[in-house]
This record gives sequence, structure tokens and C-alpha cells, in this order.
Amino acid sequence: AEGMTVKDLADKLEAKVKDVMRVILEQGMRMTINSTLDADTATMLARQFGAEVEVRSFEEEIVEFEEGVSRPEDRETRAPVVTVMGHVDHGKTTLLDSLRTTRVAEREAGGITQHIGAYAVELNDRKIVFLDTPGHAAFTTMRARGAKVTDVVVLVVAADDGVMPQTREAIDHAKAAKVPIIVAINKIDKPDSNPERVMRELSEIGLLAESWGGDTVMVPVSAKAKQNLDQLLEMILLVTEIGDLKANAARNASGTVLEGKLDRGRGPVATVLVQDGTLHVGDTVLVGTIVGKVRALQDDRGRSVREVGPSTPVEVLGLGGVPTPGDTFQAVEDVAKARQIAMFREEQAKAKSLGARGGRMTLETLQKH
Ligand code: GTP
Ligand code: MG
Repeated sequence: AEGMTVKDLADKLEAKVKDVMRVILEQGMRMTINSTLDADTATMLARQFGAEVEVRSFEEEIVEFEEGVSRPEDRETRAPVVTVMGHVDHGKTTLLDSLRTTRVAEREAGGITQHIGAYAVELNDRKIVFLDTPGHAAFTTMRARGAKVTDVVVLVVAADDGVMPQTREAIDHAKAAKVPIIVAINKIDKPDSNPERVMRELSEIGLLAESWGGDTVMVPVSAKAKQNLDQLLEMILLVTEIGDLKANAARNASGTVLEGKLDRGRGPVATVLVQDGTLHVGDTVLVGTIVGKVRALQDDRGRSVREVGPSTPVEVLGLGGVPTPGDTFQAVEDVAKARQIAMFREEQAKAKSLGARGGRMTLETLQKH
């Protein structure tokens, strides 16, 4: 159960966390609700709660049909993708709003309307993509499904409140996913703010600020008063530069579904993050078990676009069904083959039974009976 925590499992089983914890303790295992479960333990626990478990192997899921392995010289720097996390009320939404309005609206009188749960901002002609989703939920669901969409986590900690339970949880998630953390010490405009206290509390749980000799970048900001936001963006670019993020715009698009919905007028609509390649109107895409033709693409401001490159969130219209967040998508040349793979996946999903060793469990394969 790569990425699934005790809490995730309890949610999935519609069981109380404390009941799951009780079983764990009865078995003599030492865990907290945030411990990550391995496939065997998760299977055992799920059975205790009357759920059927399917474990699928990596091999079954990795279906290679894209021939062209990209040449290193075709790979270009792509924009970093950021998820904002933090404790309740520490200012995540305000920060996302302020970044969007200061860095995007400048160019457009009257401001902008955001259309999808992700958007791009620019600093000195360099793009940064923010996933505007309730951080924890999106991050954990995605990760439980094996998708990696985030290059860096911005951890918002209110300077008048300090480290709180969800602050710690966010750190655990980011560490488990091996994603670097940048701390935005927020609300520094407040008279009772105490950034040093936040730094001290963070140092006690393993995040030592660079300015104190550690290696975690911490930026004091005010999301509300829009203080130091450019500095935060600069730091995001700096930290992700080290990661040497590359993509090849010349290949067929691939990426991850961020959201899926059925729109009355427009039919199935998927918000996807194109992570590699270029997605065009007219492309045939394989998304989970759905094969469809891209009828239209709409960017983060609701504008119709013909094509989008790597690190771009975009709305895709024309799919034959509603995909699930965390599904991967792949543009394909060979439609017949794509259908074949889609069918194969569907059959696999149906036929898969218990006991496949060395497999990976994903949240959607865990079904309560
Ligand atoms: P949840 O989505 O509920 O987890 O909260 P959140 O982290 O998104 O916090 P949100 O942005 O909703 O902010 C919570 C409150 O803090 C709001 O009343 C904001 O106006 C206020 N707030 C956020 N940032 C700042 C800041 O920099 N300074 C001050 N003074 N208030 C802030
Ligand atoms: Mg919020």
C-alpha cells in the first residue's frame, strides 16, 4: 500500500481510525495514524474490516506502448509544479489567491477568473504552476494512486500560531514523497506574530532553517498584505532548479488527471496536468480505462487553446467518460492499441484477486463490501 497511511485506510474502509488503531495495537505493531502501511499489513487490516483487497503489480500497470524514448538533447527545462499545504486557517487559500492576483492579473485589467483548480504564475518570464486543491487530500489521494505531480511543497505556517498537527502531517507527507519543502511563515503582518518561534518549533521536528545553518528554505510572508511573495516565488524557482526539471515538448503528451467531472453542457471534463510532451486538440488519449479524442482544450483562464506543453494544467473536453484524480493519461498514435490497453486494464481491474505478491495496492482497488 504504497503511500497509504493508517488514516487513509480507515477512511477507505469507512471505519473509525481508533478501531483500526486498536487492531494494529492488538497485533503488537507500533504505528501512529500517519504511519504508512505496506501491502501485507493493509491487506490484513482490510480483511479484519470485511473488505476485499486487490493487489496489482507494477508490471501489469506499466504498459509500454510509446516507442520513442526521448533523447537528452530534446529535453528542456519545464516549470515547477507546487502544492500548498498547512494547518487549518494558516492562510493557504489567501496565499494562493494573492499569488494569482499579484502575478497574473497584472497583465489583465479587471483581474482574472480562475477556471480550473490549478494555475500558472510568472516571475521574470519564468512560470510556476500551483495546484489549487485542498492540499492534503489531493496530495495523499494522488500519491496513494502512485501519481507524482508535485515538485515542491510550500508549507504554510502561521507566525501567530506555530506548528500544529496538520503542519506535522504535511511534513510527513512531503518527506514520504521525497518532495522538498519550502516553509512560508505567514501572517507576519500581525502584531503577535513570532517567526522565530515557528523556526524553533520546526527545528524541533527536523526542519532547520537555512539562516540557522540548516537546509530548509523559510520565507517570512504575509499572504494578506502581499509581503515577500516575490521572494517566495524566487525561492521556489531556486529550490526546484536543483531538481533539474526537464520535459520533451516534442513527444506525445502524458500526465495526470487532477479532477474529473460531468458537466451538463460539455459532457465529461477532465482537468489534467500535462507533465511531458505536448497535448493537441484532436489527439487520441488513453486515460485510465477511457479512450477519447480531445475535442477542446481550455487553459486556466477559460481560454480555448489548440495545444499545451509540459507543466500545464488544462481542461480536456471530449473524453468518453469521467476519469478519476490520479489517473495517468497518455496521448497515443495507435487508437486500436489504446482501446486494447483500455480493455486490458478494465479486465485486469475486474479479474484481479487477492494474493499477488510484490504488488502495489492503490486506493481504488480497495473496496468495501
Ligand atoms: P483552510 O482552507 O480552512 O485550511 O484555511 P486556509 O489555510 O486556506 O486559510 P485562509 O487563507 O482561509 O486564511 C484563514 C484566515 O487567516 C483568513 O481570515 C485570512 O484572512 C487570514 N489570513 C491569511 N493570511 C494572512 C496574513 O498574511 N495576515 C493576516 N493578518 N491574516 C491572514
Ligand atoms: Mg483554504
